[in-house]
Amino acid sequence: MAPDPFIKHLQSHATSFAAIKSKQRVADHGEVFTPAWMVDAMLDLVKDESARIDSRFLEPACGSGNFLVQILRRKLAAVELKYGKSDFERRHYALYALMCIYGIELLADNIAECRANMLDILAEYLNIDESDDLFRAAFYVLSQNLVHGDALTMCVNTGEPITFAEWGYLGKGKFQRRDFRFDVLTGSSAFSAEDSLFAHLGKHEIFQPTKTYPPMTVSELATLEGD
Ligand SMILES: C[S@@+](CC[C@H](N)C(=O)[O-])C[C@H]1O[C@@H](n2cnc3c(N)ncnc32)[C@H](O)[C@@H]1O
Repeated sequence: MAPDPFIKHLQSHATSFAAIKSKQRVADHGEVFTPAWMVDAMLDLVKDESARIDSRFLEPACGSGNFLVQILRRKLAAVELKYGKSDFERRHYALYALMCIYGIELLADNIAECRANMLDILAEYLNIDESDDLFRAAFYVLSQNLVHGDALTMCVNTGEPITFAEWGYLGKGKFQRRDFRFDVLTGSSAFSAEDSLFAHLGKHEIFQPTKTYPPMTVSELATLEGD
């Protein structure tokens, strides 16, 4: 299939418009950042998904979060439209929106910046600071969802396999968490290929969580220690 002319246009301009921190970092880690206008144009290609509160996004080389930040903004706009009239629902669905966003980043300074950028946006939207349980719960969620690791080896910086938390909102202020290994999740298409030994199995038989947690409230999440 011929590439969409718009995508071709974006690709041909990507290098000249991308921002960099240093030439050395570009050479060592391919660190170039996508400008906001291009992020928005690319997210417009998946407009409905990027504005759905519970759609899950993973950016495997998230840098300081240029894509993730815009996805969060779009999800929060959806929260405002749907739950803006109830403070309780607005707060819980804003946290749930954050819970559905994931990233992996190799460099410690970039992942720290990414988590801080995401927290700033949520805090500004809800008008909260560290004195609020929801702020501390969000801090914890970001420490779990935005992983300091290597997307190619699928391991965290300490060498263990990356696991991701799947969050669900059960309603009435309760969140459910189950953890899954990233390397197993990425095997999804191979497992379901027609000639695979596992093709006859349902996904639930292959994708078993490594851990299932009891339902948790914002106050309980706020007491947990992040990475
Ligand atoms: C091209 S930048 C893109 C950053 C962001 N996605 C953006 O568009 O602004 C690539 C980022 O990927 C990180 N990176 C490079 N190799 C990686 C790997 N194997 N796993 C995770 N992150 C990686 C770099 O440190 C850098 O921050």
